[in-house]
Amino acid sequence: MSKTIIVSNRLPVKIQTEDDKLVYKPSSGGLATGLGSIYKEGDNLWIGWPGLEIKEEKTQTEVAEHLKEESMRPVFLTAEEIKDFYEGFSNETLWPCFHYFNEYVVYEQSLYEAYEQVNTKFAEAIIEHAEPGDTLWIHDYQLLLVPQMVREKLPKISIGFFLHIPFPSYEVFRLLPWRKQLLQGMLGADLLGFHTYDDMRHFLSSVSRLVGHSNLHGKIQLGDRKIIVDSFPMGIDYEKYANSAASPETIRREVRYRTHLGDQKLILSIDRLDYSKGINKRLQAFEQFLEDYPEYHEKVSLVMVVVPSRDQVPKYKRLKEEIDELTGRINGNFGRIAWTPIHYFYRSFPLEALSAFYRMADVALVTPLRDGMNLVCKEFIASKLDKRGVLILSEMAGASKELSDAILINPNDVNKLVESLKRGLEMPEDEQIRHMSIMQASLKRYNIHHWVNLFMDRLEEIKLEQEAMATLRLDDESEKQMLAHYHSSHERLIFLDYDGTLSPFFDDPKDAMPDKELKEILATLGTMPDNRVIVISGRDRKTLENWLGELPVDLICEHGVWLRQQGKDWNTIEFLTNNWKSEILKVLELYVDRTPGSFIEEKDYSLVWHYRKVETGLGELRTRELTSHLKYITTNMGLQVLEGDMVLEIKSLEVNKGRGAQKWLSEFDHDFVFAVGDDETDEDMFRMMPDDAYTFKVGRTNSEAKFNLKNHQKVRRLLRKMAGMPEKEAAIQKISNHAG
Ligand code: UDP
Ligand code: G6P
Repeated sequence: MSKTIIVSNRLPVKIQTEDDKLVYKPSSGGLATGLGSIYKEGDNLWIGWPGLEIKEEKTQTEVAEHLKEESMRPVFLTAEEIKDFYEGFSNETLWPCFHYFNEYVVYEQSLYEAYEQVNTKFAEAIIEHAEPGDTLWIHDYQLLLVPQMVREKLPKISIGFFLHIPFPSYEVFRLLPWRKQLLQGMLGADLLGFHTYDDMRHFLSSVSRLVGHSNLHGKIQLGDRKIIVDSFPMGIDYEKYANSAASPETIRREVRYRTHLGDQKLILSIDRLDYSKGINKRLQAFEQFLEDYPEYHEKVSLVMVVVPSRDQVPKYKRLKEEIDELTGRINGNFGRIAWTPIHYFYRSFPLEALSAFYRMADVALVTPLRDGMNLVCKEFIASKLDKRGVLILSEMAGASKELSDAILINPNDVNKLVESLKRGLEMPEDEQIRHMSIMQASLKRYNIHHWVNLFMDRLEEIKLEQEAMATLRLDDESEKQMLAHYHSSHERLIFLDYDGTLSPFFDDPKDAMPDKELKEILATLGTMPDNRVIVISGRDRKTLENWLGELPVDLICEHGVWLRQQGKDWNTIEFLTNNWKSEILKVLELYVDRTPGSFIEEKDYSLVWHYRKVETGLGELRTRELTSHLKYITTNMGLQVLEGDMVLEIKSLEVNKGRGAQKWLSEFDHDFVFAVGDDETDEDMFRMMPDDAYTFKVGRTNSEAKFNLKNHQKVRRLLRKMAGMPEKEAAIQKISNHAG
């Protein structure tokens, strides 16, 4: 039975040493709850680091055995690995870079090497446990290289990857010297998930500009593997927080805390110790609030929980000192015997205590400078059973994209923050209830289980799509069978695409004119009495007529606009209009003005924008802009926008190679059908072919075709065999390979 393996840097368990003994506590984190329903089932597993250094082999074995019972497999890290991989590259390089703290980033080759080494360790652990047919779900920035490392060993396995922190804009990401390796590592996955559309957009732009893979609606074709990039905003276990808020233990705690705090209003702040959380700015805003509105003295307090985190990393140590100092200053300046402005806790709390805080808070102040998602704000909302309370939320948190009913603020704008605090504390109850109800309904629906299901379903979908589109390499046995069928048949239809199939690509499309060898092949093949050879191309009629007009082949041009059988006149499909051309031409000219190296080709019934000669990156960028621009304006014009190899073609929806080929299939009897092509437009032709046709896709991409041929030389080699021509000599083959 196939299984699912979850992989993350940390296992969903907290191991602590108490009186020289190891104590295991289940982790209450969102991920652990969300995936709990998965990893505990059947043979499923969770692979990760137990979170502390365990030196002795005996203890390691003991820990491994204990965790095995809980479906977990530990990856042990040495003290040095913890320092260089976890504290170093993960938290001193990637974390600040991805959160836009560029000045904090440590660029150190040795740290990257440790990262690579530990990622290899994780990949090895996965390979040890994984079997073909299993599904892997790898999490977060500590393991960016793992997907590709596993892919190399298990090429067919299903791999999902989710990034829990922001993915920065290209301008920031490209500062990393290891940017390409990191992207290539991630691209080993079949599905890449991000919290927000912006993160996904940033990732796609880096992939296109740094490693040169463009995408169509988030799908990237990587050789013969198509992968999907999408956003999946993570939710919380809504019921868990709502139930906990109603539990007797939570209510007991609330009563106890209230006795100490009195009946003043409460502002709540809960975060892990982290500079990305904007704790300092928040404290400054609270200080200014107390200065600006003295009427609130003794009437409001800030309950601030800072959970210890990564305290061996210098920047975190310093942050802790700053928070201590700032809190001390505010309490010193404003405090009274009977009133402490800030109740500050540097520790973590059990769920019931957090629930009590959430219930009691009048305002939750969640103001990260950057945050992938932020779960605290969602937990606060789920805990508000009476729907009273106000959320002030940073625009820089992923959660702000879903929670537009919160008071959204820019965390750098301290004045606005002060104003929002006042607004929040004074918001009428009916308004609080209105906003809270809307946010609760949304979080209830998009909860953690929904998130897990959505991701897993999507992963399964892409895997099925990959399988359906998988082409086979034409091995000797299949080639022999095909040739035997070919020789025993007498009514053969042979459809051949031109560019990229019979001829290689050139910077200037005019240079792709047929060479001597190609003419010979077509002449020989076309003259054989049982063959009908059809060149089916996107090229314009004039060019194909000039190049191939004298040969014994039929021609289908402009993807099926113009059709000609040998010895007969040109035909065209009826009802085609051209009245759309002038409008589209204006748009294309605009893009030519903005894109040096691009040009427009005008065909009878279509327009083509070429960008092969445009600077790498710019061409892809403009194509994306142009595609969405064109798709927008052509909505009701009966036109299609097709992406080809470094071209964008706009033509009538009525026209495609499938329809063109159909004319021949219906007009001529056939007992052997052969079709070969290299790009998206040839897929229409493949789809139209009878089941027993031999269809070939040139290049290593997924296709409706059955078989795959590496390049135009392999196509010619096969056609030579069909034409009964001798094999090209090795030396000539080599030269032409080189030239191609
Ligand atoms: N949390 C906790 N104990 C505490 C305080 C917070 O377990 O004492 C949890 C909190 O409930 C939330 C998580 O820590 O689920 C913090 O997640 P978030 O996404 O807000 O921030 P991250 O720490 O992932 O950056
Ligand atoms: C963030 C990261 C997680 C990480 C967690 C706690 O939520 O996205 O991957 O596990 O912080 O950080 P820590 O360094 O303690 O694992």
